[in-house]
Amino acid sequence: MEDCAVSFWIYIGVMSILVGGAMKKFLAFHIGAMPSMMAWLGATLLVERLCALCMPAVLARLILCVSCWLYFTWATPKPLLPVEGKAVFITGCDSGFGNATAKRLDAMGFEVFATVLNLEGEGAKHLRRVCSSRLTLLQVDITQPQQVQQALLDTKAKLGMRDLWGLVNNAGLCVNIGDVELCLMSNYRGCMEVNYFGTLNVTRAFLPLLRQAKGRIVTISSPSGENPFPCLAAYGASKAALNLLISTLRHELKPWGVKVSTILPSAFKTGQSSNTEYWEKQYKNQIQNLPTSLLEEYGEEYLLETKELFHSYAKKANEDLSPVINTIVDALLSPQPQVRYYAGPGVTLMYFICSYLPFSISDRFLQKVFVQKKVMPRVLRKQPGLSLINNNNSIKENMNNSNNNNDSFTKSID
Ligand SMILES: *[C@@H]1O[C@H](CO)[C@@H](O)[C@H](O)[C@H]1NC(C)=O
Ligand SMILES: *[C@@H]1O[C@H](CO)[C@@H](O)[C@H](O)[C@H]1NC(C)=O
Repeated sequence: MEDCAVSFWIYIGVMSILVGGAMKKFLAFHIGAMPSMMAWLGATLLVERLCALCMPAVLARLILCVSCWLYFTWATPKPLLPVEGKAVFITGCDSGFGNATAKRLDAMGFEVFATVLNLEGEGAKHLRRVCSSRLTLLQVDITQPQQVQQALLDTKAKLGMRDLWGLVNNAGLCVNIGDVELCLMSNYRGCMEVNYFGTLNVTRAFLPLLRQAKGRIVTISSPSGENPFPCLAAYGASKAALNLLISTLRHELKPWGVKVSTILPSAFKTGQSSNTEYWEKQYKNQIQNLPTSLLEEYGEEYLLETKELFHSYAKKANEDLSPVINTIVDALLSPQPQVRYYAGPGVTLMYFICSYLPFSISDRFLQKVFVQKKVMPRVLRKQPGLSLINNNNSIKENMNNSNNNNDSFTKSID
């Protein structure tokens, strides 16, 4: 009896490695979080039961051996490509991921072309101080095509006959946060201008060099481009557009031998995210420019709460940027880089919940985890016939639910 139990657990162990490995490959993300482990075990038991039910023991063992062999030849990590002689162009190195990536790649021996908005800013000064003489700092606002063009000319001049191996599309911004109805158009356009059109212009400008080198394109996007985070519609929509652009480009560049990866980081302290002054300024601007009727219906306290919630959320973000920098290095140097990298704590859990669970759960999750609003819009609060409104709402909610069901149907077909 004991014997049987031991061999059962060994069997389950081997099966977990196999099935988990396969899942990891299929889902193209790093399995780390608990729910992924549960899914992993669940899948293992399922496969094991199926095998036990519909296969004679000999055949099952044979399949097990063959898959073991396949798995280990397939899963052994391939050594990274050599750094020597590789040049990389990185946008948005004033702060955050760009600043840290430029520094890391320079230390590894890359020839780094780092663009900054401000050549005299803190980020540029820091890079000048700590990096080798291989680093070239360039002033580029990616929304200005002539500056992009100039950076291309400067890079070409410096490279001479050498190739450009990689482009790291890092520059991006979030102009402001808030409900869709309450955000200014300048917020939507600002995000699109930098995150989408800016990145598009840079990528197209450098593509001839990258095709020639059969190089790499690494783009920093955001999970908010995949999931509807409350208050982040403007930023998220620009990242969603970027994701689709980059995914399409990935197909088109296959014949050219250019490999394309997208990185989706969780919440990190980067750029303006913890700059209180910046958010205060954006908030004042928003309040001043909103139509009075809207401001009255929602109430200033409603907008204030959103700002405060976002602020406390940003304060809790990770300071250690290395999970993201590591994935950038992997995307640049792995012989087989991943299509998508989910980097940072919690982001795999979010991916799992938003991709595989019904909307009724994922919606609640997004609202609980992100900005957990307590203040209702003013008009909904002070209405005397509250029960009537609630009734209306519940009817609407039911209608929404039936829409959601349709959505989840199409989602599962996808
Ligand atoms: C750039 O990164 C370094 C650490 O790598 C940090 O000390 C410095 O403050 C960063 N600069 C900016 C402007 O983010
Ligand atoms: C970048 O944008 C400008 C202005 O829209 C355009 O003239 C230029 O051709 C673009 N560059 C590339 C390489 O697409």
